[in-house]
Amino acid sequence: MRTGVQAIDGVPVTTRLAMKMEDSLQAFAVRAACFIGELEVPFSEEFDGHDYGATHVIAYIGDEPIGTVRVRWFKSFAMCERLAVMQRFRGHNVGNLLLERCRRLAESRGCNMLYTQVLPSDTGYWEKQGWRRLVPEEMSRAGDKRIVAMVKQVDPSKPLPEVEAPESIVLRREPTLDSSGKPVGAVTN
Ligand SMILES: CC(C)(COP(=O)(O)OP(=O)(O)OC[C@H]1O[C@@H](n2cnc3c(N)ncnc32)[C@H](O)[C@@H]1OP(=O)(O)O)[C@@H](O)C(=O)NCCC(=O)NCCS
Repeated sequence: MRTGVQAIDGVPVTTRLAMKMEDSLQAFAVRAACFIGELEVPFSEEFDGHDYGATHVIAYIGDEPIGTVRVRWFKSFAMCERLAVMQRFRGHNVGNLLLERCRRLAESRGCNMLYTQVLPSDTGYWEKQGWRRLVPEEMSRAGDKRIVAMVKQVDPSKPLPEVEAPESIVLRREPTLDSSGKPVGAVTN
């Protein structure tokens, strides 16, 4: 696994946490290009209502946003999701740089474990970044998609903490709210 991309064509690649609305918009622009434009993910699925309760990490080449990842914070893990690098900037390990920034952020917040849910076709990428399947060959569903839960310890020198697998594997889309603020639809296990 390569780590620590420093520059693309001599221009330094840096990462930053979104602090203000403009930063968040940069993260959303990268995601819109990659997921909605390139991968044909529906808008309603991509922007699922959790963006304003999440931490956004953005990668830049100079001042240009080129990649992003979102982190949501749960009781026993930090969930990394929506990892994307603009197509023309791929092949320089920017994804790893973003995930490593997530790891350090989680470490600084006293979190022991990183967690993600990926498509079966993407597990190879995450394994290369040092992640492993939470339950070998176990899959669950997110809507009509099959997904694989994967984890990585925040401190690589320590064993993975005991995982409450059911909590992680069955992590479901949180319900949307109706106009009066009540959850729409039942969330069942
Ligand atoms: C996943 C993504 C962020 C990686 O971008 P990146 O950081 O530029 O990744 P790189 O092209 O530098 O690849 C890093 C390594 O992973 C490997 N890799 C990339 N995609 C892979 C895949 N789907 N399966 C297995 N390995 C993969 C590369 O071969 C490379 O390996 P190497 O270090 O041995 O050379 C990017 O492909 C992307 O934005 N995809 C679209 C959005 C998406 O699908 N996100 C879901 C998260 S997987």
